[in-house]
Amino acid sequence: MSRTKIYEGKAKIIYATEDSEIVIADFKDDATAFNALKRGTIDGKGKINCQISQVLFQYLEQCGIATHLIDCPSLNQMRVKKVKILPLEVVVRNIAAGSLCQQTGLPLGTVLAQPLVEFYYKNDALGDPLLTHDRLLLLKLATSEQIDQLQELAKKCDRALCEFFSNCNLTLVDFKLEFGTDSNGQLLLADEISPDTCRLWDNLESDPQNRVMDKDRFRQDLGKVENAYEQVLERVLAQSNFRSK
Ligand code: TMP
Ligand code: ASP
Repeated sequence: MSRTKIYEGKAKIIYATEDSEIVIADFKDDATAFNALKRGTIDGKGKINCQISQVLFQYLEQCGIATHLIDCPSLNQMRVKKVKILPLEVVVRNIAAGSLCQQTGLPLGTVLAQPLVEFYYKNDALGDPLLTHDRLLLLKLATSEQIDQLQELAKKCDRALCEFFSNCNLTLVDFKLEFGTDSNGQLLLADEISPDTCRLWDNLESDPQNRVMDKDRFRQDLGKVENAYEQVLERVLAQSNFRSK
């Protein structure tokens, strides 16, 4: 079936459907890092990330978090409620890594006393800068009420996801969420939750490079990128099957 493409991003293509309230997200194998300065392909990533995201969205729905997920017509396609994406990346950190270490000098692996919720401006031309509460209001990126709501939702997702991944023998170091509003103005968790958007460390590995199970393997040229993504999928599916018994 030929579909109308609405939007193409770095990791997904969004297609229209016959229902104006529903779109299809087609997950790609393309990988980018550092604002697309680095480009490549991770074989099988589209199917892997779509399946992982499906399990995690279903799980979060069970935890009382509204998401855009409807169902998956194929392994790399997700039918989702059409939302207006807020131009924000909501990042939650449990352990210091990535830009937090670079910008604050905190040593990699520092366990944070409480989860840190941060907002970044989803704007490639500006390099996705970190926002303050007042800048969010200044730029009208979210209302004060939405900021509070997003912080609570992000922390709720963090608690639920930390527990889920812990049962997969994975530590959720940090992750990025995106939210959108549906035609009724309801805030829905959107986009994806996958090794592209989370840092996950293998609890069965102590070596700081071998334990990396996410896109940092691609960002830092650590090798065995596909293996890590496949391993995360395997553990997530096993945990999902265990939970449904
Ligand atoms: P950071 O340490 O580079 O700021 O990344 C924090 C988390 O957000 C990490 O889990 C990776 C994820 N992330 C994305 O999903 N997309 C992005 O564009 C960036 C920069 C980070
Ligand atoms: N997704 C972002 C990009 O391409 C950055 C990242 O994930 O590191 O550019």
